[in-house]
Amino acid sequence: MCGIIGTLLAEGSVVEGILEGLRLLEYRGYDSAGVAVLDKKGISIRRKAGRIEHLAAALAGGALSGAKAGIGHTRWATHGAPSDTNAHPHTDTEGRVAIVHNGIFENYAELRAELSTAGVVFKSETDTEVLAHLIGRELARGVELGAAVLHSLRRVKGYYAVAVLSQDHDQPRLFCARSGPPLAVAVTKTGAYLASDVLALIPHTREIVFIEDGDVAELEIGKVTVRNLDGKVIDRKARRVEWDPEEAGKGTYPHYMLKEIHEQPDVLARTAFDRIREAKGDVEFDTAGWDDTELKTIERVEIMACGTALHAGYIARYLIEGLARVPVECDYASEFRYRDPVLAGNTMALAISQSGETADTLAALRLAKELGAHTAAICNVNGSTLVREAQRVILTNAGPEIGVASTKAFVAQITAAYLLALRIGRARGTISKEQGQELVDELRVLRPKMEQLLGETAVKAVRGIAERHQNAKGFLFLGRGINFPVALEGALKLKEISYVHAEGYAAGEMKHGPIALIEPSMSIVALNAIGPLADKMRSNIEQVRARGGKVILIGSDEGSVQLADEHVKVPECSEWLSPILNVIPLQLLSYSIALLKGCDIDKPRNLAKSVTVE
Ligand code: AGP
Repeated sequence: MCGIIGTLLAEGSVVEGILEGLRLLEYRGYDSAGVAVLDKKGISIRRKAGRIEHLAAALAGGALSGAKAGIGHTRWATHGAPSDTNAHPHTDTEGRVAIVHNGIFENYAELRAELSTAGVVFKSETDTEVLAHLIGRELARGVELGAAVLHSLRRVKGYYAVAVLSQDHDQPRLFCARSGPPLAVAVTKTGAYLASDVLALIPHTREIVFIEDGDVAELEIGKVTVRNLDGKVIDRKARRVEWDPEEAGKGTYPHYMLKEIHEQPDVLARTAFDRIREAKGDVEFDTAGWDDTELKTIERVEIMACGTALHAGYIARYLIEGLARVPVECDYASEFRYRDPVLAGNTMALAISQSGETADTLAALRLAKELGAHTAAICNVNGSTLVREAQRVILTNAGPEIGVASTKAFVAQITAAYLLALRIGRARGTISKEQGQELVDELRVLRPKMEQLLGETAVKAVRGIAERHQNAKGFLFLGRGINFPVALEGALKLKEISYVHAEGYAAGEMKHGPIALIEPSMSIVALNAIGPLADKMRSNIEQVRARGGKVILIGSDEGSVQLADEHVKVPECSEWLSPILNVIPLQLLSYSIALLKGCDIDKPRNLAKSVTVE
């Protein structure tokens, strides 16, 4: 999604810092970028389609340097193709106000018509530009800047985060407002900063003010004033964010995605180990606040999520039903929110999201809350909208996930779901203390097995498979039981970073159609973990072989090895935790194939890290 940066400085020049901030937001996906600065000469703008390097080239030679107030933007096109004229920032006709915008003004057509009738000549195809003209029109009517901003924001409808740069009596003034996509601000003694992502603020300070829906913040050096759209001042306290900026760097890895795949053993530890209580065979959630009584009353769990988080949700369904014996439904958030769902009895609505800003997931959880559900979240970003809106929260401690393709967050989500299933089961008595201690032990011994799959030998084995299958016409990922969602995840990873068509399927379903796809040019990835379904999976593999399919086996089931053309051995572990091990070779396989194809692994085409519009 779009990235927004705004800066005021007491001394120095903002443009270099804005470019740095935009680079930190590149991972969100974009197709153009731009900067506006304000100095004695008024507002100056540079904006370019394409990568930030193109914008940097337009700023070479110190163009725009020296200004102490500015805003920047990386645009992910919604209205109007990626181009220099559609890139943000946008200004009013007289150039007295510049704005950048993330999201959609749903009533822009009506506003555009009204403004055009009043003589405004639009320079771009964007919805964004209408807000610049609305503010400009108020200023032309002699309305004070702050009031002009509030008035204009009351006119626009939709899902948006905006930053507004202008001046009043020669003083630069910076505003931002939120109605949906995230925004945060921070102030220091010598500056004021706003950004659509905390990552761009923590190099300046860890004390962050998270802007809520309906807030309008005015930034001054060392001070932020938050108001509602009616101008009433609101008290928004700063929160301390502990993320370490280095963590967000690539370190020695060529791509964030590879670094994040290799971080997964640590992520398991950080998400689980200080929550397990071995002696009690139980877990304790520091942030959630559930008590046994509340968990005992839960009659069903409704999981909602998107993409990789949804696959973690499917796994959570197996875990919570299998271990805690509570009925679980799991649906696409984008389907749940529009299917007029019926929630029976005492429902826990559980949203799973890495970013905590996915529009469909937020909307689904809000609907579940309206329908009377208790809301809970598994989320990776403290301070995100989801974390602030859910009644109970399990934070995953994966650290910032920069690669658009989610990897370590997925493993963290499964870990959190495993802990939640254990907690619910212990509260309801469906898991005894002894069983709980076994489940805790299984988690403890998992980390070295993950390390083994990330070791030189395993990585080379996967790379070899990638080389031999890189030209496959397509891939079919097959799994059963708790590994069926892993097949879905393996297919998604391959699709989104290598642009190769891949499909995840329940292996038992293959004979009802997809078996027609089997031919030598199709590569079949079969997941088979030791467990009650292993022999069923073996016969599925034989069905594939009988039709000339090439089988890549991922798993711990020895009985499948002689049935496969290729095999990545996965260490044995509890079937409940086998998704955490089985997904690692799949992540490495998609990474290796994308590398061989020369794809942009951290910023795949058309994709955004957090889809904050529907
Ligand atoms: C996963 O690799 C994708 N980037 C995407 O499917 C992602 O999982 C989905 O958009 C949900 O994002 P969230 O976890 O931040 O809600």
